[in-house]
Amino acid sequence: MVEAILEKLGLVGNLTGVYSNGWFHHPGGTLVESINPSNGKTLAKVITASESDYQTMVTNAQAAFGKWSRVPAPVRAQIIRQFGEALRFHKKDLGMLITLETGKILAEGEGEVQEMIDMCDFAVGLSRQLSGVTLSSERPNHRMFEQWHPLGVVGIISAFNFPAAVWAWNSLLAAITGNTMIWKPSARTPLTSIAVHKILAPILVEHHSQGVFHLCVTEGHLGANWLARDIRIPMVSATGSSQMGKEVGSLVAQRLGKTLLELGGNNAAIVTPSANCSLALRAIVFAAVGTAGQRCTTLRRLFVHRSMEKEFVEKLVGAFRSIRIGNPWEAGILMGPLISEQAVTNMLQVIDLAKSQGAKLLHGGRRLDRAGFFVEPAILQADPSMPVVARETFAPILYVMPYENLTDAIRYQNAVSQGLSSAIFTEQLTEMEEFLSVQGSDCGIANVNMGTSGAEIGGSFGGEKESGGGREAGADSWKNYMRRQTCTINYGKDLPLSQGVRFDL
Ligand code: UN1
Repeated sequence: MVEAILEKLGLVGNLTGVYSNGWFHHPGGTLVESINPSNGKTLAKVITASESDYQTMVTNAQAAFGKWSRVPAPVRAQIIRQFGEALRFHKKDLGMLITLETGKILAEGEGEVQEMIDMCDFAVGLSRQLSGVTLSSERPNHRMFEQWHPLGVVGIISAFNFPAAVWAWNSLLAAITGNTMIWKPSARTPLTSIAVHKILAPILVEHHSQGVFHLCVTEGHLGANWLARDIRIPMVSATGSSQMGKEVGSLVAQRLGKTLLELGGNNAAIVTPSANCSLALRAIVFAAVGTAGQRCTTLRRLFVHRSMEKEFVEKLVGAFRSIRIGNPWEAGILMGPLISEQAVTNMLQVIDLAKSQGAKLLHGGRRLDRAGFFVEPAILQADPSMPVVARETFAPILYVMPYENLTDAIRYQNAVSQGLSSAIFTEQLTEMEEFLSVQGSDCGIANVNMGTSGAEIGGSFGGEKESGGGREAGADSWKNYMRRQTCTINYGKDLPLSQGVRFDL
């Protein structure tokens, strides 16, 4: 099965993780291995970029920017439209590759490709809507307006958990707005990034636009470092942990470049006494266990009203018990493995730490006795004062905590350093409005009667505080990839000065 998928996606022979105006057949970097987390076996080895390959890439991307930035946006959109069609054609195979490389279940692997397709559609529509405002000038016979220009060569750093969709959020908006770009994917998921470029490359060749999208697979964080320090890269969009964001963010800030950061979350949901409990249960289980708890939007903290806590938690434990864990490509499986041995160790250590702080393990939290990096998702009875609850662990650990009144629950929810996603389950208008009010959730995403994960691409995506402050994908996120220019034109014969200043010669 593995060979067949790799072959279908053109992942055969010596695989190179460097694409810049075509594939580099002899990149100078060392080999990285892509591991299937479901059995710990190597899927394939990939040759990475050396620093000199990177230098060539930046030169190529800069040269292409001169041409691409002058192509009208609706014409640029033709490439993205065709890419969307090619993704529809390859949805099953690419979805399966994502499943093999990340361990997420097939429905989620295919869902990730759908997220890319949705992004293509969104970018194509946007190509005819990129707009600037016209403003009223205080001076007679003056016209004032804003226009937007692309930035240049944009850097994109993505994480293992969404090895393709998050690149699509960034790259398609960067491309439609006239930028060229360099993608540094996670070293854990090089095959997905190569497959994406294999699908894209013939379309780029057809349109003589090879220099728009570049791929730079490197070992560890090498490529991220090159991009972050490089003055020729005006903007770096980075997705990953808050720690990574702080490092990349400060390197880019030292040269006063721009960043777009999509970082960790420590997302909470509040279940009120008026909630539709069966709906809440289903939403909570998907949000906590989907992608084996490895989404930035994963539900990690659950506040349940004290009056219903016992009964609700019993049902939740029952629902967790029924989750089928196994090979993520098999029908009926709801949870695959974690990404690595390190991730398993980390999860088990955090559970021990939580117990040492007084949390009680209600379910799961064990490693499965089989090859690969499989664990049972864990539910812990905890208290908001336990330090462990405030930290994001990239694993399926759900802390359940009681609350007395909604104001307390919102306070607990906001009392962490991250601010990505949040949810409330209620049938009461007043509770919903309190949650959505200025004193309510402090997160970038606030949902009602649905889980914390699974955002659509039409809305802007991102969070506050240590979640990074960036907004990607939908709404007006395209502005991040452009520079704003305020233009004022005097079409009169006089020279009136603003603020009524007189300066008569
Ligand atoms: C991420 O985990 O980095 O909202 C992104 C969601 C997905 C994206 C997650 N659409 O869960």
